Amino acid sequence: MEGINFNQYGVTFKGSGSYVPGQILTNQKISQKVDTSNEWIQSRTGISERRISSVEDNVTEMGYKAALTAIEMTNWDIKTIDLIVLATSTPHDLFGSAPSIQAKLGATNAVAFDLTAACSGFLFALITASQFLKGGSFKRAIVIGADQLSSFVDWNDRRSCILFGDGAGALAIEATNEFDNFIGFDMRTDGGRGSFLNLPSKKNKGSIVDEIDFLNGGFSPIQMNGQEVYKFAVKEVPLILEKLLKKMKYNSDQVDWLLLHQANQRILDSVGERLKIPREKILSNLEKYGNTSAATIPLMMDEAVRDCRIKQNDIIATSGFGAGLSWGAALIKWG
Ligand code: UT7
Repeated sequence: MEGINFNQYGVTFKGSGSYVPGQILTNQKISQKVDTSNEWIQSRTGISERRISSVEDNVTEMGYKAALTAIEMTNWDIKTIDLIVLATSTPHDLFGSAPSIQAKLGATNAVAFDLTAACSGFLFALITASQFLKGGSFKRAIVIGADQLSSFVDWNDRRSCILFGDGAGALAIEATNEFDNFIGFDMRTDGGRGSFLNLPSKKNKGSIVDEIDFLNGGFSPIQMNGQEVYKFAVKEVPLILEKLLKKMKYNSDQVDWLLLHQANQRILDSVGERLKIPREKILSNLEKYGNTSAATIPLMMDEAVRDCRIKQNDIIATSGFGAGLSWGAALIKWG
C-alpha cells in the first residue's frame, strides 16, 4: 500500500466485542418523566430507546465484558496482551478503571490506563494504541470505549436526557510488519468552545481547618448547548474526513462504511450527504442505544462485524466528536 514502509510495523484488526446493560429505557418511558414524546425524540434524533446501567453494571464491568468478547474473536493467549486502553469519561474509579479490567481479564502482562476525551475518546484511544504498535513498543492491544452517562444526566432536562445511554465496545488490534490497515488519522481540539458541552465538577467549598479551604469532590450533571454542538458536528466532521481522505489519496466512493460517533441521525445523514456517501453505507444503531459516548464507535463496529456487514478488507472512514470540544477521524481497513 502507498505510503507504507514495510520495515515499520502496521496495525491489523483482529477482533471486536461489545456489551450493553439489560435495562431498556424507551422514549415512551422517558415521556413519563419529562415533557417530551416518542414522535419528537425520533424525528429530532432518530433514537427510540437506550440502555441504562443498573448499579452492578459499572464501566469496569461493561468494559471487561466487551473486552472479553473481543479477545474471544482472536486466538490470543490473554497473557500475550501488552496494552489495554480504556476510553471513558465515567470511570468506576477516578484513579482509573483500566487496571481493574486488566485484573479481571487476567492480562497480567498488559499495562492498562484510562484516557478521557468524551465522545472522541474511543477514536483517540485507538490512535494512541496504534502508535505504540506502529512504533514497535507493543504487539497486542485491547482498546475499549465504555461510558455510563446515565449517572451524570440531568433526568429532568428534556433537552439532553433523551440523547444518552450506557454501553461498551472493544477492539483487539495487533502489530504486523506485513501491511498496515490503520491507513491514517487526524485529531483536533478546540477548548475555546468547551463550554458547549460539560460535565463539570461541583463548586462545593469545604474547609479543612481555619483559612484552608478545599473543593469537595463530585460532579454536576451534564450541561449541553445542543444547537451549538450540532452546528459544530455538521461543520467539522465532514471537513476532517475530507481532509483525511485527500491526504491518504482516497475518494469517498472507495469508502465501504462511514462509521460516525452515534450522536444524532440528522448529524449522520448530513455528514454523509456532504461527503457524497450514500445512506446504505452509513452505519447506524443509535435507534437502539442512543449516544453511549466513548462506546458508540466500537459498539456499532462490533454489531456490523458480527452480522457480516463489515467484511475483510472493507474500508471504514470513522469520526468521533464531542465535548472538549474534540474531534478526530481515522481511515482503516478491516482485518
Ligand atoms: O456527543 C455529542 C453529544 N451532543 C449532541 O450530539 C447534541 C447535538 N444536538 C442535537 O442533537 C440537537 O440539538 C438536539 C436533539 C439536542 C435538539 O434538537 P434541536 O432540533 O436542536 O432542538 P432545539 O434545541 O432547537 O429545540 C427546539 C424546540 C424548543 O422549543 P421552542 O423553544 O421552539 O418552543 C425546545 O424547547 O424543541 C423543544 N425541545 C423539546 N421538545 C420536546 C427540546 N427538547 C425537547 C424534547 N421534547 N425532549
